[in-house]
Amino acid sequence: MIRVYSAPQQGMAHYGAARGHPARGALVRTRIEPPGPQDDTTGAPEAQMTDTVKFLLDEEHLPKHWYNINADLPEPLAPVLHPGTKQPITPDDLAPIFPRAVIEQEMSTEREIEIPQPVREVYRQWRPSPLFRARRLEQALQTPARIYYKYEGVSPAGSHKPNTAIAQAFYNKAEGVKRITTETGAGQWGSSLALAGTFFGLEIVVFMVRVSFDHKPYRRAYMETLGAQCIASPSDQTESGRAILADHPDSTGSLGIAISEAVEMAVQRDDTRYALGSVLNHVLLHQTVTGIEAQEQMRMADDYPDLVIGCTGGGSNFAGLAFPFLRDKMKDELGTEFIAVEPSACPTLTKGAFAYDFGDTAHLTPLVKMYTLGSGFVPPGFHAGGLRYHGMAPQISHLAKLGLLKPRSYNQLECFDAGVQFAKAEGILPAPEANHAVRAAIHEAEKCRESGESKAILFNLCGHGHFDMQAYIDYNEGKLKDLQYDEGEMAMALAGLPSGC
Ligand SMILES: Cc1ncc(COP(=O)(O)O)c(C=O)c1O
Repeated sequence: MIRVYSAPQQGMAHYGAARGHPARGALVRTRIEPPGPQDDTTGAPEAQMTDTVKFLLDEEHLPKHWYNINADLPEPLAPVLHPGTKQPITPDDLAPIFPRAVIEQEMSTEREIEIPQPVREVYRQWRPSPLFRARRLEQALQTPARIYYKYEGVSPAGSHKPNTAIAQAFYNKAEGVKRITTETGAGQWGSSLALAGTFFGLEIVVFMVRVSFDHKPYRRAYMETLGAQCIASPSDQTESGRAILADHPDSTGSLGIAISEAVEMAVQRDDTRYALGSVLNHVLLHQTVTGIEAQEQMRMADDYPDLVIGCTGGGSNFAGLAFPFLRDKMKDELGTEFIAVEPSACPTLTKGAFAYDFGDTAHLTPLVKMYTLGSGFVPPGFHAGGLRYHGMAPQISHLAKLGLLKPRSYNQLECFDAGVQFAKAEGILPAPEANHAVRAAIHEAEKCRESGESKAILFNLCGHGHFDMQAYIDYNEGKLKDLQYDEGEMAMALAGLPSGC
């Protein structure tokens, strides 16, 4: 029997007391009660059945600030360079593509940045998102590890991406922008910006990477239903798209190419700006709402993570969960480990070079110092489309270089094995991208089973896979394969890294 109840405020003082964190108001908890005489028995042990599985914060506990890790980095980030002069860029250089408020955030070193009230109003529709203790998974794995996951699939678009889409749409609207262009890999980001566009009355144009456009017709339908225009990339609508198609008429596309198309279209009209769904400082900043909530929810669980895990495409969902905990680690010298998980077929952090590179294929963006496989690298068309990016967020790259996070890669099939194992235990079907985090979390929990250690493992279940059913159909029919990148192509892309910066 599952009972949901709202606990009265005065009864909450025990939450977090053991760790000295005062309780902060009414909490809603779900308990799985032991079966009564009339109940069907589930066969689960009684000890498990009396423990909390879901940690919920009410709307009043929605964070009021985002956390900016630039304030606490042991060494500052390398400057972003102008692609022509190779000198540090100024806010004016970015003005044709981003609104002023976003440019300020990109360059800010303020520790806390206020979340504007209209953004919080929209967040309230699904935030604070739940934190689950994966008790059924723990039991299935027979592990002494305590596994927690922050579930971002509860947003209307189904992932963490609206956390920044809503903020970016708000700032654009406030500065009179009428139209926003963007790219999307898996379709999650495009869907999120389409959602933000409909909330704030903005026209949205999405360049969707060809392979995802073909794999995921329902993502396109979602975006179009919300009023966005969705174009397969490379397309004949831009010079950069036409140039790619001339050389590679069957190009599967890549995030780098789609970014070029979206930026090119944005700079052509005064009323249009561009929005990026990951990589940049302001995007990672907006995602920290996730980690700030998770800190509070871990206090409710009277626990603290030994391991924090997230998948990394451009780095934003990982950063969102990890940065507030990294702040604790840097401040209090904690032993928490941070694991960034990427696909073996697009191994940016594990095999890339740490160098200045372009964020896009046509070299329209500024140069950023990051781990990169080269802006010309086109990864194979595996299903986790949101992880098919040649670069990595400068903040994540910097932290990896400093040894503050540990990158790791897995193949497609082992990630789907883990995703299905997770779905069978917890009932949620993860997005293919999120399966990478699930893979690592299960791997770590299995290690605990071998060693007998009881670590607390926290991971970001950054999206559901309800639009990714073709991938699961292929998996169930045994058709899903591991795809390898072409060594020669990667070497060529890396050889083409810009020089003189
Ligand atoms: C569900 C999901 N997870 C992860 C990612 C990767 O992006 P990031 O590393 O910015 O979180 C994407 C990108 O589209 C995504 O859709």
